[in-house]
Amino acid sequence: NTVYLNGSFMPIEEAKISPLDRGFLFGDGIYEVIPSYEGKTVGLEPHMQRMFDGMSAIGIQCNKSLEEWKALIQELISLNGGGNLGIYLQVSRGADVKRYHAYPKDVEPTVFAMVMAIKPAVEADASTAKGFSVATTQDMRWKRCQIKSTALLGNVMHFQEGYASGNDEILLYNEDNFLTEASSSNAFIVKDGVVLTPIQDNQILPGITRKLILDILEKDGSIPFEVRNISMEEVFNADEIWVTSSSKELAPVTVIDGKPVGNGKVGGVWEAAFKLYTQFKFDY
Ligand code: PDD
Repeated sequence: NTVYLNGSFMPIEEAKISPLDRGFLFGDGIYEVIPSYEGKTVGLEPHMQRMFDGMSAIGIQCNKSLEEWKALIQELISLNGGGNLGIYLQVSRGADVKRYHAYPKDVEPTVFAMVMAIKPAVEADASTAKGFSVATTQDMRWKRCQIKSTALLGNVMHFQEGYASGNDEILLYNEDNFLTEASSSNAFIVKDGVVLTPIQDNQILPGITRKLILDILEKDGSIPFEVRNISMEEVFNADEIWVTSSSKELAPVTVIDGKPVGNGKVGGVWEAAFKLYTQFKFDY
């Protein structure tokens, strides 16, 4: 595994970061995961735009241009032999001379990139697709979930809660009993042929897979969708539930809190939407 750290490519064993790095001490950084299949990325520019937005939201100045990031990513993909990869990018506020909460002046951000193996894209076939099982719990994370922060303890604890009880993911709901997202994915439901997903606000990450799906559905026009608040009652009575992310694409959920979703089978709307996604994802 060849990684990138602060200007150079090197084997991961040689990549060393100071214990004073604020990414390590405070989770003070921004990250991104970009899927790449056989050398072709999905959503590269929207992913980079979200990373720039995140850095600007937390006041990290990293003077790498979009073109420089693209070149870095291409180099990393080829140094790691292509294949199916999640490109992991992280920029932390860097290593100060002491541990002190205020943003330091004149500290260079730490820029790190590596690749992670992801599953090859599967065919959009409801008869062979693996159904996910999810738990549900109240969303206990912070109120700035739109920032893709490396401070993921809230997400990690939620994911673990679902994982420990044998689930693939955990759906989260806010104090008003509305669905937010999942611990490492966005969430969608389908009712009577209509695709529904929560509004993009500070309670959810602006997922790129979510954004691409909505854009593709809008352009295609054959599957109706609405972006609105979704109560947990609607979630439990949904015909289909999906969770989406860069590493899992659109994953159909067939079990929620141990009970079947709809008829308990992977749904036809999922199949139709995932076919469209598979057809158009490389256009982004
Ligand atoms: N997770 N919501 C949360 C909380 C996430 O962590 C993620 C992604 C998503 C989906 O976003 P996108 O479609 O842009 O991947 C939604 C990444 C993959 C991770 O942390 O590994």
